Amino acid sequence: MRPVLGIESSCDETAAAVLDEAGRVLAESVLSQESDHAPYGGVVPEIAARAHLAFLPEQVRRVMAAAGLGFAELGGVAASGGPGLIGGLIVGSQFAKGIAIAHGLPYAAVNHLEAHALTARLPGLVSGGAEFPYLLLLVSGGHCQCVAVEGVGRHVRLGGTLDDAAGEAFDKVAKLLGLGWPGGPALERLAAGGDPRRFAFPRPLLGRAGCDFSFSGLKTAVAHEVARHGAGALSTQVASDIAAGFQSAVADVLSDRAKHAMAMMRARAPAARLLVVAGGVAANGAIRAALGDVAEALGFELVAPPVRLCTDNAVMVAWTGIERLRLGMVDALEFAPRPRWPLDAPDMRVAS
Ligand code: KG4
Ligand code: ZN
Repeated sequence: MRPVLGIESSCDETAAAVLDEAGRVLAESVLSQESDHAPYGGVVPEIAARAHLAFLPEQVRRVMAAAGLGFAELGGVAASGGPGLIGGLIVGSQFAKGIAIAHGLPYAAVNHLEAHALTARLPGLVSGGAEFPYLLLLVSGGHCQCVAVEGVGRHVRLGGTLDDAAGEAFDKVAKLLGLGWPGGPALERLAAGGDPRRFAFPRPLLGRAGCDFSFSGLKTAVAHEVARHGAGALSTQVASDIAAGFQSAVADVLSDRAKHAMAMMRARAPAARLLVVAGGVAANGAIRAALGDVAEALGFELVAPPVRLCTDNAVMVAWTGIERLRLGMVDALEFAPRPRWPLDAPDMRVAS
């Protein structure tokens, strides 16, 4: 099939990419709105929607020019249709539909979580692309779940967070420590100089059956420790030790939960041997290392895409568009973007 344009606008990245069927990235561009939201300590939906509206047309023009293609030369247009913030989803979906109508192209409404899941199938990442089935651990600011990826449109959620997402916990703890937003990268830097054993933070659900997660108790424990030292009076050493203790607790929890998820995956599909991580938290070195160890112990191979493909981007959306469109999974232009769209919703599945 001919190259596909992908559009991502579900949260605070305005991104566009053009990929060919072999998974080669002909052009891509990601515009982060981080500095627009940072003063508010988190993503402000209205600001995000307006920024997508202001910058998406230029992003698309730019990638099409860089790919050297006109719209009529595309094989389809894909846009994240959910889950996410409704304003941005509407902007991206309507823009994609407009191009599809004007140029008579097929349209794919991509589930953003499926896009993270199928990134591992980009041929450049795992030799030839990850074969189904594999296990996905998605750990971002908005999502924290273990998914059995069994095919295009065929996903089974094995477990997920009961409260906060892992990245959300990083962001909240970073805020307690007076770091900026988003907090994950700054917290990782601070933790590098700290002693992870000085403060014994809880490891919620560790060893518990299944692969659900919980982070609110850990976050509360950190808040109590910070309060004990007096607001605003944390020395750099104490702050570093708290950051290191928190990060090591999250790494322990994620690797324990991943261990259970790998066992569940093996029970469903004995041939499964890949553990794929995705989402911004997968950028964390300590967490990657812990997951690598536990995967190896269970005979799984850890696949951790480069950071730019772990965080939100349009390459994964275009690729998912290719995977779906080449199976004939074209979406109707009536598709309404969905703020909530679980990966194992019945309409995600391929008709069998
Ligand atoms: O996937 P992502 O870019 O956006 C969505 O949430 O969809 O993930 C962003 C999240 C933020 O919560 C951020 O603090 C976290 O990923 N993050 C990290 C690191 N880099 C980003 N968390 C821990 N360590 C990092 N190095
Ligand atoms: Zn995402």
